[in-house]
Amino acid sequence: MPSDPTPPSPGLDAAAALFEWYAAMGVDVTLAEAPLDRFQESARAKAAAESQAARRQSPPQPEARRPLPAAEFPPPGAPARPAAASSQTAQVPTEATVMQARAAAQSAKTLDELKALIQAFDGCNLKLTAKNTVFADGNPAAKLMLVGEAPGRDEDIAGRPFVGRSGQLLDRMLDAIGYSRGHNAYIANVIYWRPPGNRDPSDVEIAICRPFILRQIELIDPALIVFLGAQPAKALLGGEAVKQGINKLRGRWCELEIGGKRFKALPTFHPAYLLRTPIKKREAWRDFLTAKLFLENGGMLPPA
Ligand code: URA
Repeated sequence: MPSDPTPPSPGLDAAAALFEWYAAMGVDVTLAEAPLDRFQESARAKAAAESQAARRQSPPQPEARRPLPAAEFPPPGAPARPAAASSQTAQVPTEATVMQARAAAQSAKTLDELKALIQAFDGCNLKLTAKNTVFADGNPAAKLMLVGEAPGRDEDIAGRPFVGRSGQLLDRMLDAIGYSRGHNAYIANVIYWRPPGNRDPSDVEIAICRPFILRQIELIDPALIVFLGAQPAKALLGGEAVKQGINKLRGRWCELEIGGKRFKALPTFHPAYLLRTPIKKREAWRDFLTAKLFLENGGMLPPA
């Protein structure tokens, strides 16, 4: 007679129940035993950069020399500290990592080269937890380039931007003005790797990805960039834009200067926001029509 199957261990049942509970609470990635405060990292890096700037402006103090803490930015022109970028533990990126990103981005002569360089780049901690590098989707010859924030869970799995619910809404909005990623639109994000749990990317993570997306824009050379949400507008425009909310920014013509060339840009609402706030679709629709008019009138500015 066959013996009875071994009953499932209560320990395994308890573990499975715990995982189910974590998943229901939205925990979809585990990182480390101890929490890492990325906001504090950004604040530390910013304070260090400010204190460097202040020190550069005042005459050198003989007793002021001290070793730089790990997260502190070196002054411009100082030899780059080696970026400890490829270990499997999360790093606090330094200005050297940003310089590495800048040098890599500048060395790319084609989109394929840029994509390969980003995929090989180990200086951004987000890569440690992401499944895929999300580079872009759409037609690289398109005159319309849309720039979003960062990949979410669906995009991380697919390795393509805007494939989840907000991407489906974006596709419908594009379709309504006669555009599509398969034909005449190109889509990318400021951030190339999914932030764990869909948290906001930190200032440092944005600073590391920025040289790559700027080079990507240069190589695409679009007639118009549409920023999807405030975050890409703030990350790439800087200046006054940083202080403004999307309700102020949207529908207002902006210029993004890269390597001496000025690109026309129009911020609008992020499709994820439109899913939560459908009343705002009216304004987003106006922005998309403005974009279409601009693109189809040889770059003449319609009233924004
Ligand atoms: N939101 C974004 O900003 N980008 C994506 O790729 C998906 C969702």
